[in-house]
Amino acid sequence: MTLHPSAATLGEEARETSAWGLLKRVSRDLSRYRVQVALVALSIVAYTLTGIATPYTLGIIIDNYILKGNLPGLATMSLIYLLLLLGQWASMTANTYYIQTVGQLYLRDLRNKIFSKLQRLSMKFFTSRRIGDLVSATINDTSTLNDVLVSGILSVLGHLLSLVGVVAIMIYINPVMTAVALANVPLLIFIARTYGRRLKEAHRVVRKKVAESTMLVEESIAGISTIKAFGMDERVLRIFNTVSNETSRAFVGVAKLMGLFWPFMDLTVTLSVILVLAFGGYLVSVGAASIGVVVAFIQYVNRLARPITQFVNMYDSLQAALAAAERIYAVLDSEEVEREGIGAVELKNLRGEIELKNVTFSYVPGRPVLKNVNIHVRPGEVVAVVGSTGAGKTTLVNLIMRFYDPDEGQVLIDGIDVKKVKLGSLRRAVSYVPQETYLFPGTIMDNIKLGKPGASDEEVIAVCKELGIHEFIERMPDGYMTDAGEMGKKLSTGEKQLIAIARAMLRDPAVVILDEALSSIDVVTEAMLRGAMKKLMEGRTGIIIAHRLSTAKDCDRIIVIEDGEVIEEGTHDELMNARSRYHELYKNMTRTITTALLNPPK
Ligand code: UTP
Ligand code: MG
Repeated sequence: MTLHPSAATLGEEARETSAWGLLKRVSRDLSRYRVQVALVALSIVAYTLTGIATPYTLGIIIDNYILKGNLPGLATMSLIYLLLLLGQWASMTANTYYIQTVGQLYLRDLRNKIFSKLQRLSMKFFTSRRIGDLVSATINDTSTLNDVLVSGILSVLGHLLSLVGVVAIMIYINPVMTAVALANVPLLIFIARTYGRRLKEAHRVVRKKVAESTMLVEESIAGISTIKAFGMDERVLRIFNTVSNETSRAFVGVAKLMGLFWPFMDLTVTLSVILVLAFGGYLVSVGAASIGVVVAFIQYVNRLARPITQFVNMYDSLQAALAAAERIYAVLDSEEVEREGIGAVELKNLRGEIELKNVTFSYVPGRPVLKNVNIHVRPGEVVAVVGSTGAGKTTLVNLIMRFYDPDEGQVLIDGIDVKKVKLGSLRRAVSYVPQETYLFPGTIMDNIKLGKPGASDEEVIAVCKELGIHEFIERMPDGYMTDAGEMGKKLSTGEKQLIAIARAMLRDPAVVILDEALSSIDVVTEAMLRGAMKKLMEGRTGIIIAHRLSTAKDCDRIIVIEDGEVIEEGTHDELMNARSRYHELYKNMTRTITTALLNPPK
């Protein structure tokens, strides 16, 4: 399983440039939280200054007060030293706090931005992505980005400043001893780089394994009924165990590297301290330096290690952040294909004419699903679309709803290209009951009301009465207040379809599109619903996609689609007389039912 192939296949070079662009982008975003960023900067400066001053003061205390026996002065200086330490502690606390504040503000805004973008993206985007990746982009990647790019960079900036400050003061105090103290730095960097690379790889494995196990959990919960029905529980469990083992092994791998890394770093720092002690001791003995300077230098050397190791840490987590950023910005920069053009018109008083003119469309380039389709639905006409599975019926609706745009040709509503229509008004004017009904968690009443926000209970009940499903809903355990469950799980498919139809009708739309909306409703309910629908469809344009030809029979006109092409159209009688494909479909259907009735399952 390869996740995020884009991140995996991108070369280092591409990353470098995008890293730079990314930093600019992040800092642009951060400029919105000026006050908090200013407080971070202030705390960094305070931390650096106190960090430089404490060892220096300690040196002075030793040389000028302890060694010279100046006791009253020593008390004052100790107090100053204490204040400096307190200042350092306070500035560090403030620094951590404000970095987190900035980070969380940034994170909040980024998450909201991604979420609102997700709502606006075209359907094409969603069919080409895995849901797990998108969830990960919204939740995990944003926090990775925050950890590294915002908090990480802010704290590294702080460390950089204190690094520069410490080196500067060391040079000021004693340039030669500074050279000795820094002699070890190349070794420090070498260890850091070597480990950085290994850690990067180890972290990559961890991320991959974590993503894999998350995905497995997601997929196995979504497909739980299939898993149980096919007795795949054992197999799924085994796969999960394997991934789970690999995940913990990957984590241990990282821990092992980290466990080696820190002692190594400590050792190198100790080496520096020994160098300073030895060389400093020599300088003291020849009278070229004071004891206070040596003590101060030991403290400074200890202060160097942290910023340097921070950089190393940064190097490897930056990789993770870059991968995360790539995914986030890929989402944020995805084109909203279904954008409306400038000067898009609001659909008003729709007559309900729909026309597809020479429409060709493909989901995958080069594999057209609709080929030069011409369909004209007159206002107030109810047209049935029939055709075998995969013929392109739902695709047709996708184009009318403007979930996708055609590659060639035009889709017109009341003679206006849908590309030039305000999307909101298009979707308000057309009520669509998708093939896969989605009910949101909540009551049946709430779910119907989604069709027309602000509708009253009475309106909902009136529509259901007209549809003839009022009694049916009343009979449910809590009537209209019956809980539909997550994704309508507590209802049958047919029940869900009835609710979806009521939801669509509540809108009082000019155009109604039903995609197999009656497919899971029993024949008797369907017959009843058909009568009611006929009344409800009066004065509206309808496109009814039907597998059941009994539904199609009633419509004003029937369009037969096969393999992405319109092959026949006419009324039921016309098509039956013509001994057409429709006739064939119709005959086969009756035969299947008859066969089924004659040979009931034993
Ligand atoms: P449709 O979804 O339009 O078929 O897919 P249909 O006529 O409604 O079929 P049923 O009756 O509901 O089953 C038409 C073709 O487009 C492909 C499908 O694989 C099918 O061959 N397709 C559909 C894609 O390639 N990508 C998609 O996102 C959807
Ligand atoms: Mg379909």
